Amino acid sequence: MKIVQDLVANLSKEEIIWLNGYLSGVASLDRKQESTASNVRKITIAYGTETGNSKKLATSFAARAKKNGIQSKLVSLDQYRLSDLSKEEWFFTIISTQGEGEPPATAKKFYDHLHQENVSLSSVRYGVLALGDTAYPLFCKAGEDVDAQLQRLGAIRVMPLHKLDTDYEVEAENWITSLLDSFNTSAPAVPQVVQTSNTKTKQHYKGKILTTINLNGSGSSKETYHIEIAANGVQYEPGDALGLIPMNSKNVVDKIINLAGADENSPVSYKNTETPLGELLRSRLSVIHLSERVVKKYSEIVQQDIPLTRMDLIDLLRIYPISQPSQFVPIVEALDPITPRLYSIASSPLAHQDEVHLTVAKNTFLLDEQKRNGLCSSYLSQLKEGDDFDFYIHKNQLFKMAPQDKDIIMIGPGTGIAPFRSFVAQRDAEGAEGRSWLFFGDQHFTTDFLYQAEWQNWLQVGALTRMNVAFSRDQDQKLYVQHKLLQHAGELFEWIEGGAYVYICGTKDPMSIDVENTLLQIITEHKQLDESQAMNYLFEMKENGRLLKDVY
Ligand SMILES: Cc1cc2nc3c(=O)[nH]c(=O)nc-3n(C[C@H](O)[C@H](O)[C@H](O)COP(=O)(O)OP(=O)(O)OC[C@H]3O[C@@H](n4cnc5c(N)ncnc54)[C@H](O)[C@@H]3O)c2cc1C
Ligand SMILES: Cc1cc2nc3c(=O)[nH]c(=O)nc-3n(C[C@H](O)[C@H](O)[C@H](O)COP(=O)(O)O)c2cc1C
Repeated sequence: MKIVQDLVANLSKEEIIWLNGYLSGVASLDRKQESTASNVRKITIAYGTETGNSKKLATSFAARAKKNGIQSKLVSLDQYRLSDLSKEEWFFTIISTQGEGEPPATAKKFYDHLHQENVSLSSVRYGVLALGDTAYPLFCKAGEDVDAQLQRLGAIRVMPLHKLDTDYEVEAENWITSLLDSFNTSAPAVPQVVQTSNTKTKQHYKGKILTTINLNGSGSSKETYHIEIAANGVQYEPGDALGLIPMNSKNVVDKIINLAGADENSPVSYKNTETPLGELLRSRLSVIHLSERVVKKYSEIVQQDIPLTRMDLIDLLRIYPISQPSQFVPIVEALDPITPRLYSIASSPLAHQDEVHLTVAKNTFLLDEQKRNGLCSSYLSQLKEGDDFDFYIHKNQLFKMAPQDKDIIMIGPGTGIAPFRSFVAQRDAEGAEGRSWLFFGDQHFTTDFLYQAEWQNWLQVGALTRMNVAFSRDQDQKLYVQHKLLQHAGELFEWIEGGAYVYICGTKDPMSIDVENTLLQIITEHKQLDESQAMNYLFEMKENGRLLKDVY
C-alpha cells in the first residue's frame, strides 16, 4: 500500500487517470478471463455530437476496427437502445461537451439514463473519448461524467478517459490505434500509455478588421453587423464557424480595478505566466454574469451572505465590497475564463480569399429594466478598421455543402443567412450546376433585408435560382419563413423528392423547430404519408446528410 501511495504522490492528475484505467484493465482479466482482447470480434461505438466531430471520429474508429477484423455497431447516442447497455461486452463512446459543461442534445437521453438508472454494468468493458475545448471552464465535463458514471455502475474501464481539445485529430487516432493494438495482440486488453491533450495549442489566426457595417437601416429595432476580417492563409470550408474569445469592456475593467483598490499593472500569475492584472481582466477572465460557483466563492472570501444568483463582478464589488485589497487576489483566482463564442462564416474561401466575413446580431436584453448587450456581439460591433483580431476556425462536420450538381434549399432567417451567403458565393465562384433556393426572413423589408443587393445580383446571374422572403412585421399577421415554405409546398416537395439538400440555420428555438415541423407537414401531405412515416422520411434525410442544421 505504501508503494502505491508513494507512487501516486508523484503523479500528475492525467497520469493518475491513466493508471486508473490501466488497473481497471488488469482487474478485468480476473473478472472475465474468457473475453481477452485477442478474441474481440464485435464492439459498439456510440457517439454524442453537436457539430459532427465525435461522429467523424467514431466513423473512422469503426472503419479501422473493420480493417482489423472487428465488427462494430456504430450508433448515435440518440438512436442507441438504452436497454442494450447492460448486455454490451465492449462499449466505446466518443462524446463532446456543449453549453456549460453539458452533453450534446443527442446524448442527453443516454446521459440522463446513466445518471438515473441503477443498472448493473459489471460485464461491460468500456472506454470514453471526450471532445471539448480547453477554453471552457468545464473542459470535457460530459465525457468525464459518462466515464465516471459507467465505472460507478460497475463497468470495467479498458481505456483511460482521454480528453481532447479542438485540435483532436492526431491524439484521437492514437487513442484508437492504442486500443486496436491491444485487441490485436494476444496480450490482455490492458491500455497503452496515451498522452493527454492539454499540452498543445490550437491554431489561432491573427487577422485585421477590414470593415464593420451595420446592415440594418435606420429605424430598425436591430443591429446586425457585417464584419470582414483579413487573414492571410486562413483555411476553412463553407459551413464552418469562426471562434473567438471576446474582450471585456475597458470601462468595466477600470471600474472593477477602482472598486477593488487594485493596481492594473500588478502582476498576477495565471496559467504559469505573470500577467498584469488589467490585461488579465480585460482579455482572459469572465467578469460579467458570473457563475454561481464564483459568486459562492466571492461570498466566502468577503465573508458576507450573498444570494447564489449569477451577477456581474462590478455589482458584487459595489453591493458587497471587499474589506481590504488583499481579498481581491483570491477573487481574481476564482474567476472563470471568458468562454469562446462561435459565428457562422458568411464568406466563401473561393470568392473571398484570405478573408473571413461574419454576420453578427448585437445581442440585447433587459436587466433591472435597463437595456444591456451581450459581451461578444457588442465587442464585435465596436471593432474598427485596422484593429487586430485573434480567432480560430471551428469545423462543422455536419453542415457541409452538397455536391455542385445537387439542388439546395436554404432556410435562414436573421443571422441564419450567414452560411448561405458563403454557400451561394462559393457556388457562384465554382459555376455550380445545381439549383439553389433561399428562404429568408426578418422583421421589416425596408430596414432588415440583410445583403439584399447581393441576393438580387446572384439571382440575376443565376447563382441563386429562387428566393422567398418573410418579413414578420410588415403586415397585421406575423409572417415567418415556415409560412413561406407552406405557400410553396408543392414545388418545395418536388425539389426534395428530386434529391435536394435542405439546410436550416439560425435560432434553435423556436425557428428550427417550427421549420422542421412544417417540413414534416409538407411531406405528410404531399407524399401522402401518416405522421410516423413522414418522420421516418425526415429521419432518413438526416441520416443521408440531406437535412442539415446549424442552429444555436
Ligand atoms: C455554431 C454557432 C453559430 C453561431 N452563429 C452566429 C451568427 O452567425 N451570428 C450571430 O449573431 N450569432 C451566432 N451565434 C451565436 C453567438 O455565438 C453568441 O451566442 C451570440 O452572439 C451572443 O453572444 P454574446 O457574447 O453577445 O452574449 P452573451 O454575453 O453570451 O449573453 C447571452 C445571453 O446571456 C444572458 N446574459 C448575458 N450577460 C448577462 C448579465 N450580465 N446578466 C444577466 N443575463 C446575462 C442574456 O440572456 C443574454 O442574451 C452562433 C452560435 C453557435 C453555437
Ligand atoms: C456553444 C458551445 C459550448 C461548448 N461548451 C463546452 C464546454 O463546456 N466544455 C468543453 O470542454 N467544450 C465545450 N465546447 C467545445 C466542444 O465540445 C468542441 O468544439 C467539440 O470538438 C465539439 O464536438 P462535436 O462536434 O462532436 O459536438 C462547446 C462548444 C460550443 C459550440
